[in-house]
Amino acid sequence: MTPSFNIAVIGGDGTGPEVIHEAIKVLDAAQSRFGFNLNYSPLNYDGTRYIAEGKTLSDTELEALKQFDAILLGAIGHPDITPGILERGILLKLRFGLDQYINLRPVRLYENVATPIKNKTHHDIDYVVVRENTGGLYTGVGGSSMTGTTNEVAVQSMVYSYHQVERCIRFAFEQVLKRNSDAPWTGLTESEKSGGYIGKLTLCGKTNVLTHVFGLWERVLKELAAEFPQVKTDYCHVDAMCIYMIECPERFDVIVTENMFGDIITDLAAVTQGGMGVAASGNINPSGVSMFEPIGGTAPAFTGRNEINPMAAIGAAHMMLDHLGLRVAAAAIESAKIDVILKMKSMAAAQMGFSTSQIGDMVVEALFASVRTPN
Ligand code: IPM
Ligand code: MN
Repeated sequence: MTPSFNIAVIGGDGTGPEVIHEAIKVLDAAQSRFGFNLNYSPLNYDGTRYIAEGKTLSDTELEALKQFDAILLGAIGHPDITPGILERGILLKLRFGLDQYINLRPVRLYENVATPIKNKTHHDIDYVVVRENTGGLYTGVGGSSMTGTTNEVAVQSMVYSYHQVERCIRFAFEQVLKRNSDAPWTGLTESEKSGGYIGKLTLCGKTNVLTHVFGLWERVLKELAAEFPQVKTDYCHVDAMCIYMIECPERFDVIVTENMFGDIITDLAAVTQGGMGVAASGNINPSGVSMFEPIGGTAPAFTGRNEINPMAAIGAAHMMLDHLGLRVAAAAIESAKIDVILKMKSMAAAQMGFSTSQIGDMVVEALFASVRTPN
């Protein structure tokens, strides 16, 4: 029987719908090439609807999304809407409501893509960040008192339970195994390889100051390390991490970190891999509904111009298929992406040497040309 999946598609605002259009073009090509069905349901949970109806994502809509196999999201945000309303009312509500407790962000500099880091090439930047996605400062635990006066006090707490930390770090260990199951990670020394290690997990924290929260993260890392003896573990403070991501990104394989730190370091990481045009992410609930999105945002200046780079959205489509277990099709999209990136002048909008829709067409063409063994 042909595998079949129901996909909710939230194109969103700004350039979101344009890049999702190209991602779907590529997904359609992959369906016909590899024999599976995606049934798309377009949903208008976006800023335009908020302006027209004053509605963000309702509880009923959230509940209905639980019936889907995955969600593909473009971008949400609107220049006329107060910052925070759509973020909390749609994006974070989706992540929290569907318990997408992992934000998976691959950081890979493709060949022919310019990085602002001098002397680093595609050989040096290839790792993934596992960002905890539903805890920490984002839970909004806190409040303010004497609000609006000069005596105002405000508190917002980094809250983590053992359970939240455990499931996140476990996922990160499993990522190390997944990435390196065929061959050990090249960043290991020969003695580490011969010692049986196949990859490395780096915890990014701040144990020298935030002792309570990162004491817990460190303890869990240590406990789980015993279950994954083939994974070498390492630790970096978040500030030092920002140095190493620039100076020696080749030292990373999988990084795991809490929500806010992950938000910050993955923007830095995205820049090192060629910018927002290429960076994709997955909001993952391993036993529920996951959501895949480019991390570039709505890019209002480029909306409707057929100039935005759709590669990040195509990358999100690749991650979605991989997550759904369609690994051969996913890998084919990835290699088609690599082929097309080699032909592009730049990853920046309006400087690619091609239009948005041309890039989508080229990925489709490369997908049909390069793949010889269907699954
Ligand atoms: C991201 C974004 C979101 C976040 C915002 C839009 C709420 O920056 O996906 O990284 O902070 O997680
Ligand atoms: Mn962010």
